[in-house]
Amino acid sequence: MRIMKNIAVLTSGGDAPGMNAAIRAVVRAAIYYNLGIYGVEGGYQGLIENKIRKLHVRSVSRILGSGGTMLKSSRSPEFKTVEGRKKAADFLKAKNIDGVVVIGGDGSLTGAHILQEETGIQVIGLPGTIDNDLSGTENTIGFDSATNVVTQSIDKIRDTASSHNRLFFVEVMGRDTGFIALRSAVATGAICVMLPERSTSVEELIAILRKGFQNNKTSSIVIVAEGNPNGGAFELAKKVNDNYKDYETKVTVLGHLQRGGDPTCYDRVLASQLGVAAVEGLLSDKSDCMVGLINGSIVFTPIMEAIQDERKIDDNLVKISQILSI
Ligand code: ADP
Ligand code: F6P
Repeated sequence: MRIMKNIAVLTSGGDAPGMNAAIRAVVRAAIYYNLGIYGVEGGYQGLIENKIRKLHVRSVSRILGSGGTMLKSSRSPEFKTVEGRKKAADFLKAKNIDGVVVIGGDGSLTGAHILQEETGIQVIGLPGTIDNDLSGTENTIGFDSATNVVTQSIDKIRDTASSHNRLFFVEVMGRDTGFIALRSAVATGAICVMLPERSTSVEELIAILRKGFQNNKTSSIVIVAEGNPNGGAFELAKKVNDNYKDYETKVTVLGHLQRGGDPTCYDRVLASQLGVAAVEGLLSDKSDCMVGLINGSIVFTPIMEAIQDERKIDDNLVKISQILSI
């Protein structure tokens, strides 16, 4: 077993609510276990540009409940090159840093895996993304907060939809997956959810809307995942409008609202559990793993498995959404 003295933590890719809680957990756990802890500013680009500072217990005061990331994040094209990663590794070695905790989505974790493979630097990944598109954990840090923002936003849209008998197309994030879309569809009673994982044609959608109208629905919400193969909310609204006229139609794209704001209680607790486990994992010589939570237990999954094992959409939740939206 290697003797570990110093570790670093960074956030990379899209920010997610709960990243700060995860940073706090990593910093405090490291100090608890007598490790030196460094914060890298601006993700992998910060490693390349030597932007690092020593963190202390009080460096992470009052961030548990705040959105964004105090360490800042970035997307670093340079880190995707061998030369970029060598600069990052040389810097870590010069600073006597033995292990790195990377908080981010699948891209960031892929970067961590390659860094470990090429340089032998010990890495542990934490799933930090609103998209919930990683295996090896029931939920990623930020997913619960984002779906709560979507739910609250659609509740507000629903007020206008029902006051004016309108049909709303609401576009939500999730990159090429529909986890945010499906969960918020059930939480808001959307008449239909357009998922990348399940193709619903425009004709099928119109048939669903027509049936709802005949069943005395005075307003309807269609949730569109941004990766929907038949187009985003604007495109879909136009295609429906051209052939179906029972409702006046409006479109809302929720965009980056979904990534912002305070993390929910669930995300704060999840981030705290995973952050402590990441430090304990490094201390017990684990590397190239992502730490997740499954059935209440901490699980370490090889990073490439967490990324490549395609996470399946919950068919039962799709069915529930259909049963309840008639
Ligand atoms: P996320 O982590 O949210 O999925 P990205 O996919 O943009 O976000 O990845 C964040 C960063 O991770 C990239 O800007 C890059 O620095 C690093 N990264 C992503 N993919 C790779 C890769 N294949 N090799 C090395 N680094 C990568
Ligand atoms: O991965 C998180 C995410 O918010 C995705 O849902 C979305 O597709 C993407 O990042 C947006 O990235 P950016 O903030 O760079 O536009």
